[in-house]
Amino acid sequence: MGRLPDKIAIVTGAGRGIGRAIAEKLAAEGTTVVVADVDGDTASATAAAVGGLGVTADVTSPESVAALASRVWDRYGRIDVLVNNAGWDKVGPFLDSDPADWDRIIKINLYGVLNVCKAVLPLMVSRGAGAVVNIGSDAGRVGSSGEAVYSATKGGVIAFTKTLAREMARHRIRVNCVCPGPTDTQLFAELGGDDPKLREALTRAIPFRRLAEPEDLANMVAFLASDEAGYVTGQTVSVSGGLTMS
Ligand SMILES: NC(=O)c1ccc[n+]([C@@H]2O[C@H](COP(=O)([O-])OP(=O)(O)OC[C@H]3O[C@@H](n4cnc5c(N)ncnc54)[C@H](O)[C@@H]3O)[C@@H](O)[C@H]2O)c1
Repeated sequence: MGRLPDKIAIVTGAGRGIGRAIAEKLAAEGTTVVVADVDGDTASATAAAVGGLGVTADVTSPESVAALASRVWDRYGRIDVLVNNAGWDKVGPFLDSDPADWDRIIKINLYGVLNVCKAVLPLMVSRGAGAVVNIGSDAGRVGSSGEAVYSATKGGVIAFTKTLAREMARHRIRVNCVCPGPTDTQLFAELGGDDPKLREALTRAIPFRRLAEPEDLANMVAFLASDEAGYVTGQTVSVSGGLTMS
């Protein structure tokens, strides 16, 4: 039967990486997953793999996100779980950074979460139930050199999670945040994680002596999305093999 039987979930950025692992895990726990990604091909591929619905959606566009929410509502009549996972970064020293890149990072990582919550939460409120899991980052908790603006957006996601959790409690909607440590994905490789020296240094610094796999994050997301976490809201949980402890 699974931990999330007969639920309807939207996972953003689920075409690949951590989002795809979350889609796979939620589906394995009994959920019908709407795989939303700006890359329509990967959205379709993940959806086919998990038996869900693939939708091309850009979290930076309120119109695109509104269309996503109404499509899911029209088709299923409810949205039980929302996972805001889509994210992006460009690494480099802050003093060398280009404000055009700040815009992109803030639009995807922070506005993206706001846009999707604004579109989906009224539908959850109308049913008086729901669970939201935002994917933050340990960069937003403890900082990360070369990721100043990214850290600012993820710190924003953590703070937004807490206030939204307070506002949504009366509607019986829980809102939590999962912060990955370094996780073996394409994004991580693109940000320098394909450099063996960096991988080795990080691996040495992590008490469990390995990077996170996307599945490590998916397991925590599935728990927080499930009724087993029914008394948990406004929390920030790091999944980092002990790299960060707070
Ligand atoms: N990989 C890590 O080490 C790590 C660490 C901390 C936090 N995170 C966070 O985890 C999440 C997933 O990261 P990942 O490593 O799997 O990245 P990834 O790049 O492998 O996957 C991200 C997915 O999001 C999609 N996406 C990007 N912009 C989008 C948009 N505007 N609208 C919709 N979809 C969009 C991409 O197409 C891609 O499929 C992100 O929020 C990231 O910040 C990752």
